[in-house]
Amino acid sequence: MRDAWEDEEFALRWDSADSLRTNPDRLNQLELLVALVQQRYRDEDCILDLGAGSGLVEEVLLQRMPGARVLGIDHSPAMLALARRRHAGSPQVQFRELAFAALPGAELDAAPFRFILCVQALHEVEHTAKQQVFAEARRLISEDGRLLVLDRFTYDHENFKAEYRAVWQRMNRAVELAEPIDYDEYHARYSNKSDHVAGVDDYLKWMREEGFTAECLYRQFNRALLCARPATGTVPLHR
Ligand SMILES: C[S@@+](CC[C@H](N)C(=O)[O-])C[C@H]1O[C@@H](n2cnc3c(N)ncnc32)[C@H](O)[C@@H]1O
Repeated sequence: MRDAWEDEEFALRWDSADSLRTNPDRLNQLELLVALVQQRYRDEDCILDLGAGSGLVEEVLLQRMPGARVLGIDHSPAMLALARRRHAGSPQVQFRELAFAALPGAELDAAPFRFILCVQALHEVEHTAKQQVFAEARRLISEDGRLLVLDRFTYDHENFKAEYRAVWQRMNRAVELAEPIDYDEYHARYSNKSDHVAGVDDYLKWMREEGFTAECLYRQFNRALLCARPATGTVPLHR
């Protein structure tokens, strides 16, 4: 089953769902992401958000950095409509309909960007498309920029089922959800999704191949925050 981002009802349901049930660590991850931006952000910077969706990441960004300038791109008009509505009062936050595949050659006025974010979006696209996104990020980022990627990754359920169950239970206890999802249900639900989840090491390898120095800064169960910066002495590759 694929997520129907083009469908308005699906978009509304996703936006209003309690995302902590399927990612109990999400708020913590977003706070960490924003802290990493905040420590280097300068007034003239514009942040590029790839797969911005309904603007929930921007919401957390603006809570900590009310004046932050952001350009969010996404291929779903339904998600972008929600994002525009959510940020109608913040003219410095803009959204544009653009698919990852259309990034090569796309003119983005605010480039180069000192921050490029991509939150829970790359697992949606095939691995070759992920690699192309990293190549485009290298083209669009400033030499002192940071690419921050949060996503869902593969995990070795077969060999570490009991250990992952314990980690999942602990993550759920930490946020005290009224109706937490049981680990087996979570695993069944997500292993049946037809998306394109890869390993943390795959992402780091692809980033390095496109001219980044890359590191996994934070990992919790199947979620991780990766940070990449242009490798010294590299120039963007153009496919
Ligand atoms: C799980 S949502 C995450 C949204 C947002 N980053 C967040 O964390 O709240 C994934 C988003 O990626 C977008 N997306 C998926 N494939 C895309 C593509 N090929 N090009 C642009 N956006 C894409 C979807 O439309 C959706 O809005």
